[in-house]
Order: sequence, then structure tokens, then C-alpha cells
Amino acid sequence: MKTFQILDKYNNKSLLKLKNFVENSIPNLKNNNLDNLHKIYNKKNINNLRLNIFKKINSRLNWENLIFNICSDDLFKFLGQDLLIQSKINLSIQMPNDETSVLPIHSDSWSSDSPFQMNLWIPLTNAFDTNSMFLFDKKKSLNIFKKISKDKLKNVNNLKINKKNFFKINFGQILFFNPALLHGNVLNKTNKTRISLNLRIKSLFSPQPNQNHPDRRYGTYYKTFNISENTKFGIDIIKTDFFK
Ligand SMILES: [Fe+2]
Repeated sequence: MKTFQILDKYNNKSLLKLKNFVENSIPNLKNNNLDNLHKIYNKKNINNLRLNIFKKINSRLNWENLIFNICSDDLFKFLGQDLLIQSKINLSIQMPNDETSVLPIHSDSWSSDSPFQMNLWIPLTNAFDTNSMFLFDKKKSLNIFKKISKDKLKNVNNLKINKKNFFKINFGQILFFNPALLHGNVLNKTNKTRISLNLRIKSLFSPQPNQNHPDRRYGTYYKTFNISENTKFGIDIIKTDFFK
């Protein structure tokens, strides 16, 4: 598995269901035109709308099943069959010129996420130029980690972000990336809104965050996605207390 990868899932029924659910959660949306959302919603109200959709997806939709149908084969190949998934799926909305949605450059590992996990990024609109996400490759990201460790880089926000760092990815494709890679987004200067879903997935056997980050542990931040029969048996054996 590479550190990032775009896969084609055009015409995948579960992906369409995810998109349809989001479209149907937006009052007054005309012609299901998600990328013209800014024409009917003011950016002042966008966070409320985002929170409402987020709540609906996570309470009324069996999104875990849809994700399984979309990409469990890929996930098993990349990370094995014993997987934890983020408890709630996230939704991002990047309307043109909305400075409140800017997410400065960062690595998820700086907030205690495991560098062994993958993020799944699902655009529900075509993402391009500044309405998309930017991502630094592994060489650049590693260099920045090294520089910070040696105190040679004081402010990551001064790092230059080039046009080529932004993904061009359509609805119908999905992106996997290691979120230890530096990423973020800038002010959307295009004339299209971008809407995307994102989700963290990691091996059951990846290291747990330390006690300073209880909010990122299994049971709160993560839940079970898939456990193989072999691993279930192993857990049952441990639970017999034979090894105590
Ligand atoms: Fe992130």
C-alpha cells in the first residue's frame, strides 16, 4: 500500500446512496446540485447545516455498511481484515470564499492519531484546485517532521503550498491517505462548493494512543469495523484467562 492512493468507484451503488442521503438532508436543494450549495445558503449558516447533516448521517444511516460495500476489499488489502473505524463519519463543506472552513496545514499524528492508520476521503462533488484538499508526499512530509524535531522549522504555516499539491478527484473516486502526511485546505477560490466525507480506519493491532489522549482510543473515537474469525477465536482464547 502506498501512502496515498485514488481508486475509481464510479457507479458504485453504495457510494450513490451516501450522496443521495446527503442531498436529501439539505432543505431547498435544487436539482441535487451540491456544488452550487453556496447559491442557496449563506456561509454564515453553513456550519449549522453541516452539523445537521452530520447528525443525520450518524444517527439514521447505516454508513458503516455502505463503506463496507464500497471499499472493504481495498481496506483488507491495505490494512488487514481486523479493522477499527472512526465512530462517526465526518462531513466537510467548502463554500467559495468561506474563510471559516480553512484548515491549516497539519499532520493528524500531531493530534495523536497513529501514523499507521489510513484516512478515507470521499468527495461528493468534483474536487479541484483550491476547493480540494492539498497533501504533501511522503518525502516532503518526512523532511518537515525531521526539521521540526531539530528545531529548524518554527512555523509550518509559512510552508509554500503549490497548485500541484491539490488533488483533482471526482465524485465516483475515493482517496486513501496516510494522515501523518501533511495536509489541509486553503480558501476556496473556485466558484464551486466542495462537499466530502472523511473517516479514519486502522488495524486493531495498531498502537493505542497514550493516556494523554483518552479521547482518541478504541471505545470512544474508534469502534469495531471488521474482525476476522481467526482473530475472534484468538480473543476468546485470551478471555479464558488461561494465560493470567
Ligand atoms: Fe487532518
